[in-house]
Amino acid sequence: MPIDDINRGAAAARHAKLCDELRRHNHLYHVLDRPEISDADYDRLFRELVELENTWPELVASDSPSRMVGAAPAEKFSPVVHAVPMLSLKNVKSPEEFLEFDTSIRKNFLAREEAIDYVCEMKLDGVAVELTYEHGILATASTRGDGSTGENITENIRTLSSAPRTLAPPFPPLLDVRGEVYIDLKDFQQLNRDQEEAGERSFANPRNAAAGSLRQLDAAITARRPLKIFCYGTGRWQDGHHKSHLESLQRLAEMGLRVNLAETVSVRGAEGVLEHYRNLLARRDSLPFEIDGMVVKVNDLALQQELGALSRTPRWAVAFKFPPRQEETIVEGVGLQVGRTGAITPVAHLKPVNISGVTVSRASLHNWDEIARLDIRVGDHVVVERAGDVIPDVVRVLAERRTGSEQTVEIPTVCPDCGGPVRKNEGEVVPRCTNSHCPSQTVERIKHFVSRNAMDIEGLGEKQILQLISLGKVKTVADLYRMDKEDLFAMERMGDVLADKLLHAIEQSKFRPMSRLLFGLGIRHVGMHTAKILAKRFTSLDTLAQADAEGLISIHEIGGKVAESLIDFFADPVQKQLLGQLRDLGVSPTEEAVVRQNGPLTGKTLVITGTLERMSRKEAEDLVERLGGRAAGSVSKKTDYLVAGPAAGSKLDKAQKLGIRILTEDEFLQMTRSEEGT
Ligand code: IVH
Repeated sequence: MPIDDINRGAAAARHAKLCDELRRHNHLYHVLDRPEISDADYDRLFRELVELENTWPELVASDSPSRMVGAAPAEKFSPVVHAVPMLSLKNVKSPEEFLEFDTSIRKNFLAREEAIDYVCEMKLDGVAVELTYEHGILATASTRGDGSTGENITENIRTLSSAPRTLAPPFPPLLDVRGEVYIDLKDFQQLNRDQEEAGERSFANPRNAAAGSLRQLDAAITARRPLKIFCYGTGRWQDGHHKSHLESLQRLAEMGLRVNLAETVSVRGAEGVLEHYRNLLARRDSLPFEIDGMVVKVNDLALQQELGALSRTPRWAVAFKFPPRQEETIVEGVGLQVGRTGAITPVAHLKPVNISGVTVSRASLHNWDEIARLDIRVGDHVVVERAGDVIPDVVRVLAERRTGSEQTVEIPTVCPDCGGPVRKNEGEVVPRCTNSHCPSQTVERIKHFVSRNAMDIEGLGEKQILQLISLGKVKTVADLYRMDKEDLFAMERMGDVLADKLLHAIEQSKFRPMSRLLFGLGIRHVGMHTAKILAKRFTSLDTLAQADAEGLISIHEIGGKVAESLIDFFADPVQKQLLGQLRDLGVSPTEEAVVRQNGPLTGKTLVITGTLERMSRKEAEDLVERLGGRAAGSVSKKTDYLVAGPAAGSKLDKAQKLGIRILTEDEFLQMTRSEEGT
């Protein structure tokens, strides 16, 4: 094979993997508010994707994460299409990079030597929203979502006292206002204290707290959260006559919208921007909220227009990010955490240090290779970094401060919790406790089982689970369904009302969709996505338990690793017993969207593209899946049909080239109707 084809093959494989990973992290960040990686790691993956796509342009599909902003909206809120897409911003991370940006737009796009007038704003770290005012009345509020479609959070936004329900005249007939919903640091700390008290999960940072508070289905919960909004831009502005961005912000403020005008500064040229950047950086710690940099925008709207936008980002604005916060502290110990699968991971216990309003006393060490790479020892002075999000990292050891009394960290040979045997599987960096009755594993398994994406039992936080275990009330997840009110009364601060509430939540969890139970069981390699695929194919755990490897692998997206893990799980007598107990206790998961066994869509792969007139793309995709087909994001040789609405683009071209059958929306509907009639 020519070397170029080999390279292209490798690039395509890496590209597919990066797309999957980025989509997953987008979902974790934007929809679940539970990021697993730092912003810096995300940026690294994203940059790699963009570089690959620059080298191999044929790999780019219109649904590549490089073409999307954020993630597709969650299913629980209705979708809102942004009339003007909500773009994201390109980042620059140093004065040099900012100078490059300034030179590039002046020389390459505006052909001018002269300095540009910029507006510098604070870049608040919260959640981007759009508020639409019709004739001065707040009609709709939505999240950014994937940039073109967000979630309808009107009721939630109405609870914010800083988001006016009506505008002060004169106002335009139609106005889309964009801004950031955030939480002040002081309020964030109080909120976390309250959450912990109530046995709820605390938030990793103010951004997550704001996102979690805003995306509540019950707006009464949002109302109790200390959310605020600062407006920084607009979408549609009917009959707007202003000439500059600053002027538009001043107009918004006059209409009663909350704009951070005191910190919105107009400056001349790159020099002015750099001076303001230094000034703001120096004041970063004295602000009541978290900012992760500043946003620099070309002030003149005509120039903005001339510069235009790329698919995700405008050319007329840039996020000038601050360096991640770093602080020095001491590693007081290295704790060993035993996860629900027995994996033992090291965690640095730090002398508590305040990093931008968040007290940090633990840092992730990731794995044993990382400890060796950084050569971290107990007693070491280290630099820790909080990149705005997730768990902080140890960046480096200050080896020059060693006294010689520091202790190296050994890989455990027995489980730190139960003393059971530890095994390191070949090819893995993680040592694992092999005792399935290990108490730490039990706690983690129960925590996972009750977690939001699994059985979602509210009111059972870590504190409560530990108590129930130490009181001997709970040993396995089945025991949760055996508890009565008396059992709960043994817990601290458990009154009648709370006990009823908890029992009700436990009872309700019996009827969650099958995918949640499957995910909650914590089978290795079965994440939420895989659980959904399985639950769609097998209507009960019993039928899944009977499936053989061949049958499992024949399912799209299920590989050998997952199949092996499922077979091991269902063959394990302990798990068999547990499943039997859950069934006897009345845990009867509801069916996932039913999959039809035969008919024109069974086993077929469809791609929907363009704008459909009768239904949203999401609805069409759901319909395909309900009728046993697969809705894919991109066209390939495996595609059976392409459903093309008006304004279909590159996918249509590709399908035509590949000779794939193309359906109009009507033809597609006809097909589904004949299917539903069968
Ligand atoms: S302007 C086209 N201004 O940063 C302009 N964004 O990736 C897009 N943000 O999604 C946004 N403060 O969530 C703008 N003063 C500000 C901002 C700001 C925070 C957020 C916003 C946006 C993200 C940029």
